[in-house]
Amino acid sequence: MGAPVAEVFSRLVDSALDRAVVPGFTAVGLGVRRRLPGWPADPQPSVLAGRHVAVTGATSGLGRRTALDLAVLGATVHLVVRDTARGERVAAEVDASVGRDGAARVWWCDTADLDSVRTFAGRFLAADLPCAASCTTPARCPPRAPSRRRATS
Ligand SMILES: NC(=O)c1ccc[n+]([C@@H]2O[C@H](COP(=O)([O-])OP(=O)(O)OC[C@H]3O[C@@H](n4cnc5c(N)ncnc54)[C@H](OP(=O)(O)O)[C@@H]3O)[C@@H](O)[C@H]2O)c1
Repeated sequence: MGAPVAEVFSRLVDSALDRAVVPGFTAVGLGVRRRLPGWPADPQPSVLAGRHVAVTGATSGLGRRTALDLAVLGATVHLVVRDTARGERVAAEVDASVGRDGAARVWWCDTADLDSVRTFAGRFLAADLPCAASCTTPARCPPRAPSRRRATS
């Protein structure tokens, strides 16, 4: 298969999997996509060694999975959570899964509360960590974004 044809074929299969939702977002989709021409190889373990990544929504679902997988790649993951007891349980799971104490650290933040976000950001910046990235999974924002309009007389 020539390169452009292979690329078009890969895109078509990828789009079809996306639209089918269930097969696309399960292990089936991952398995098919890995076999597509031009699909990138998985990163090597330890590729993120020495890097720090903040992950919100890390107590369950996508955030928890993201934290576990980033730690496998060598990153120190900062679990940004509103329930610290659940966060500590996931941190212990991350440490155990990679056999590395301190692979995960827990930070409290309610992402629906701007004051909480500001406080967290201040503490996190003060720690002066070489943070390489942040992964935000919960789509929770404050109910109203602060208005940019100034009151006029
Ligand atoms: N799963 C999928 O296939 C999929 C696909 C497309 C889009 N999404 C979207 O991706 C996001 C995550 O999905 P998910 O399946 O991982 O959901 P989930 O398992 O319900 O996880 C949501 C996470 O967000 C945290 N969270 C919620 N509100 C918060 C707040 N105010 N402050 C701090 N943390 C908060 C929860 O913490 P607590 O433990 O404290 O509740 C939990 O850790 C959702 O917005 C979902 O709509 C998911």
